[in-house]
Amino acid sequence: MTQPQARIKIAIQKSGRLTEHCLELLQQCGLKYSRGRDQLIGFGENMPVDFLLVRDDDIPGLVRDDVCDLGIVGLNVLEEKRLGYAAEGINEPFQVLQKLDYGHCRLAFAYPEESPLEKAAELDGQTIATSYPKIVGDYLQQNGLNAQVVEFSGAVEIAPSLGRAELICDLVSTGATLAANRLVEGETILDSVACLIQTPVAIPAEKTEWVNRLVERIAGVQQVRGCKYIMMHAPRSALHAITELLPGAESPTVLPLEDADDKVAVHVVCRENVFWETLESLKKAGASSVLVIPIEKMLA
Ligand code: PRP
Ligand code: ZN
Repeated sequence: MTQPQARIKIAIQKSGRLTEHCLELLQQCGLKYSRGRDQLIGFGENMPVDFLLVRDDDIPGLVRDDVCDLGIVGLNVLEEKRLGYAAEGINEPFQVLQKLDYGHCRLAFAYPEESPLEKAAELDGQTIATSYPKIVGDYLQQNGLNAQVVEFSGAVEIAPSLGRAELICDLVSTGATLAANRLVEGETILDSVACLIQTPVAIPAEKTEWVNRLVERIAGVQQVRGCKYIMMHAPRSALHAITELLPGAESPTVLPLEDADDKVAVHVVCRENVFWETLESLKKAGASSVLVIPIEKMLA
């Protein structure tokens, strides 16, 4: 009897700031999947890769327990869980393979608008509400501060108005939630971003090929995302100035233009994103018909 092919499991956030980005990333890695409405598993159709949609707080545990081979979760959740495991004497609960280019946010203190509190040094004797008691506790300890931490699993922002805490420590992305609750942002204690993690257990032989392929494709997608292909027309004399303006550019391809002796077409791959300001500077340097084109795949 032949063994069924071993399938890779990757845990991603069910609904939240990372979900759409994770699904898009898997699709860009070439995964085609089927998923029934409200189904918490997506089955890969063209690769032996399935994904589980779970609460982000559960992702580190699923990977640590080797239920999932890989997971994508915010550094904020990862760090909170890592401190918990460390307290139990478990030191490498998961391997962090790579930081990804989405899910940027920060764990920061925030005070009611009318609060006299401003600096971290003023935390002594205060009560802080947070969903990240271990990260906050660790910060207080590292800084020799003596504040009390109360854990809220959600809606931390309302703790001060309920009289449960003088301030909070919570995730901030746009800052809209803080503003809506009349809270002012203070010091950041952790900058967070989505991370790709892998089980601490050695991947069994029948899975290594696809785990490696997926991890490599994720790295490839990340690399290519910031890259752009730029085409423009430019006077030959401006070539040097133009290449100087392009971020992370390789040496350009320069092509002659029909019926134009002094003008050439310039094609170049930029390894960083290209902003409007750069295009405006290119125009000032003499470039015209500037096109910025996304690159879908790149094999170095
Ligand atoms: C965080 C945080 C705020 C919100 C801040 O929750 O608790 O509610 O995001 O974002 P903003 O600055 O853009 O308004 P999150 O959505 O991460 O949910 P979770 O902590 O329950 O997973
Ligand atoms: Zn959460």
